[in-house]
Amino acid sequence: MKRRLEAAASTLRGQDFVRVVSHIDADGLASAAVATVALGRAGVKNDVRFLKQLDDEAIRDLEEVPTLLTDLGSAAIGAIGEWLDTAVVVDHHEPRDAEAENVVHVNPHLFGVDGSSELSGSTATYLLAREIGENRDLSGVAVVGAVGDVQDRDGLRGLNRLVLREGEAEGVLEARKDISFFGKQTRPVHKMLEYGGDPYVPGVTGSERGALDLLDSAGVELREEGGWRRWIDLSRDERSSVVSALLRRLMRGNRADSAERLVRETYVLREEEEGTELRDVSEFSTLLNATARYGHPGTGIAVCRGDRGEALDDARDLLRRHRRNLVEGLELIESGGVTRLDNLQYFHAGDEILDTVVGIVAGMSVNLDAVDRSAPIVAFAASGEGEVKVSSRGTGSLVRRGLNLAESMRLAAEAVGGAGGGHDVAAGATIPEGREDDFLAEVDRITGEQLG
Ligand code: C5P
Ligand code: ZN
Repeated sequence: MKRRLEAAASTLRGQDFVRVVSHIDADGLASAAVATVALGRAGVKNDVRFLKQLDDEAIRDLEEVPTLLTDLGSAAIGAIGEWLDTAVVVDHHEPRDAEAENVVHVNPHLFGVDGSSELSGSTATYLLAREIGENRDLSGVAVVGAVGDVQDRDGLRGLNRLVLREGEAEGVLEARKDISFFGKQTRPVHKMLEYGGDPYVPGVTGSERGALDLLDSAGVELREEGGWRRWIDLSRDERSSVVSALLRRLMRGNRADSAERLVRETYVLREEEEGTELRDVSEFSTLLNATARYGHPGTGIAVCRGDRGEALDDARDLLRRHRRNLVEGLELIESGGVTRLDNLQYFHAGDEILDTVVGIVAGMSVNLDAVDRSAPIVAFAASGEGEVKVSSRGTGSLVRRGLNLAESMRLAAEAVGGAGGGHDVAAGATIPEGREDDFLAEVDRITGEQLG
């Protein structure tokens, strides 16, 4: 891979101008930020375009200028090579096409590295940036992208871990064992417990009363002078008594298997201000999603590139809206439930959940009581123009048993005249409206084969 990265870097350094084309999600934004900063520092003029996906039409819309595609492109190297004279693709989605002579293609899967879990678009782009010049300070933003693509489930591993180590050496990143809940920097601690996410704690998750009682029993004061206390405001002793109380709940609720997920490695950006959405890597990645998924990628990339003024204010507004949408989406699943097939479960949100966030909701839904963690979940949302967006999510243990959603999404989508792909643990597709049942039958069958 090193040699491929060198070739990519020298191709790019030789240009006056490079257009960066990236995926419109947190990882894609972080990738584009890393790429544009690195190009700018090397004296290469550049601009950015964001795409939902790189289908044939999108490729034909590309202008014939030297182009760096990040976090997309690997499924269409042939078409890119036919259309563009000079292109570099840095992607981590499962590659499909043959290679093309005029495209420098960097993808971990080509070098025996698992791009679903060990290198994201942004960390791959970071490896490129490192070849372009002295860009180790960009490791922080790169890790935000990897976490946006949920590559930190078992801690950052493989090449992602190398990026983390470089960030630590550079003083921009820090890894800490801490509670895995979301919102450690910004939420009142009782809200963090209530909306925590994974793992689900009986009597606490989803219950403000339960969260308050637990804090009370752990002897934690809720308020101090400045207002509500956040997780970062608690003393070390207070934090460990909250963790102990949560562990007891998990044990009592027969959830010992999920107790190991309560504390894990978490990541902090040391140069960002404490108590902001930018300090904690997972909060930062959610902030990026909140811009990208609502069609404001320019706001997200500006924040990644260091804009702390208007762009950050706008991003925070978008984040509030995003949170509301996620909560409403989860409530919809909880009240409507999911439908079980032999090897999967699914729900159809129609136009109740935006197609751009249905994947995030599906990913969060595995923590709901209504959802069975022993089978993957498939979610549908209307996406206009007679099409339906599909998102699917699995768990690490399903993947270890053979689950590969990238394959099932691709094959089942092709069977009904759509297109799909992604990663073993998280994948998506777009299919014609009305073909959901045929699609589901196919995914169900393939999943059964995969899980043996
Ligand atoms: O859209 P969603 O969040 O469900 O996508 C999950 C993963 O699958 C993403 O990495 C996305 O790029 C990929 N995907 C794909 N082809 C599609 C839809 C999604 O490769 N048609
Ligand atoms: Zn990605």
